Amino acid sequence: MDYASRLDKVKESATFKYSAQAKKDGVINLTQGLINHETPKKIRDAAIKALGEGKTTYTPTRGIPQLREKISDKLKSQNGIKGLEAENILVSCGAKHLIFEAVMALINPGEQVALPNPSWVSYESIVHLAEGKIIWLPLKAHEGFIPDDDFFSRLEDSNPKIIFMNSPNNPTGAVYPKKTIKKIIDLAERKDAWIISDEIYERIIYDGRHFSPASVYDKTITINGYSKEFSMTGWRLGYAASKVEEVIDRMNIIQSQSVSCATSFVQYAALEAYSKEVSDEVEDMVSELKHRRNLLVEGLSDLGVLNYSPQGAFYLFPKLGGDDIRLADKLLEDGVGVIPGSPFGSAGQGCVRISYGFIPADRIDEVVVKFAGSIK
Ligand SMILES: Cc1ncc(COP(=O)(O)O)c(C=O)c1O
Repeated sequence: MDYASRLDKVKESATFKYSAQAKKDGVINLTQGLINHETPKKIRDAAIKALGEGKTTYTPTRGIPQLREKISDKLKSQNGIKGLEAENILVSCGAKHLIFEAVMALINPGEQVALPNPSWVSYESIVHLAEGKIIWLPLKAHEGFIPDDDFFSRLEDSNPKIIFMNSPNNPTGAVYPKKTIKKIIDLAERKDAWIISDEIYERIIYDGRHFSPASVYDKTITINGYSKEFSMTGWRLGYAASKVEEVIDRMNIIQSQSVSCATSFVQYAALEAYSKEVSDEVEDMVSELKHRRNLLVEGLSDLGVLNYSPQGAFYLFPKLGGDDIRLADKLLEDGVGVIPGSPFGSAGQGCVRISYGFIPADRIDEVVVKFAGSIK
């Protein structure tokens, strides 16, 4: 068949593929990038109210003004990004689509995009769709996947138009120290590169505080969404923000010629995400995740397969060695679903990604026992 070659290097999302396989009776499913917490009731009720009020037609392509104002207020007050107005915000159907729009708006064929290795699976595919050239920046398990000298010298030697940053990180759970983020910003500034800062896990940090590059570097596109923090993966809502209004305008051209706008009543519902009640609920959810992280880190460290303690998100990325695809298949046969590490980049070889978003704390012992049996 004569299909377009632009898909030649793009594969189906490994996370979706392995998640589907793990949805079987008797399998403890540690594949999913989501949390077993219902979307807060206030948000669900607001969606029902918006539907009842007939808020069911197209919205402005950039999103409803009330939501864009809430987002710009939040980015100013919580992330220290001064000078952002509603015009600097673009709301769309999930963070993933906004990353797609950002890369499509910036990258010409052959231009370089720097990606940490490992990285969330979709960055690589999106760069391939834009026909960009990936520069992989090596990270190491024994450094807890925090950028080290090798990462910076690779970045120094390259000429990227975009540098991707994702802290807290999927798949590793690493949270970059502020000084590391500042070092990346210094390099971006010297090379006049854009930073795409994917901050979708910003609220899920166990120690310390999140630092947004856009608070000190204007040529940043901050990406965020409602999927993780508010358990709204199926609602499909996210946003991009940049002090450079022109990049938001150009992303909005793609939006207007593709999805048109995010779902109307979902945008009205998201206004409630900024209430104190919802924020308190999120705080409780993060405490529960921290408890699970502690139990898992303890159990897997005792087995000798984990030598770092991730500070955020809800993932662990232990390096077990060997062929990670076979390892994930073997673990699945033994009743534990995980994602193999290599789809996240060559540095993921021999690793598996474990999500503890969906596993209750009282089943973690069982996970560790199954792991011990499976990898011996
Ligand atoms: C790092 C990262 N960015 C973006 C997304 C996608 O978020 P959304 O559901 O808003 O498209 C995910 C989802 O797993 C993610 O892990």
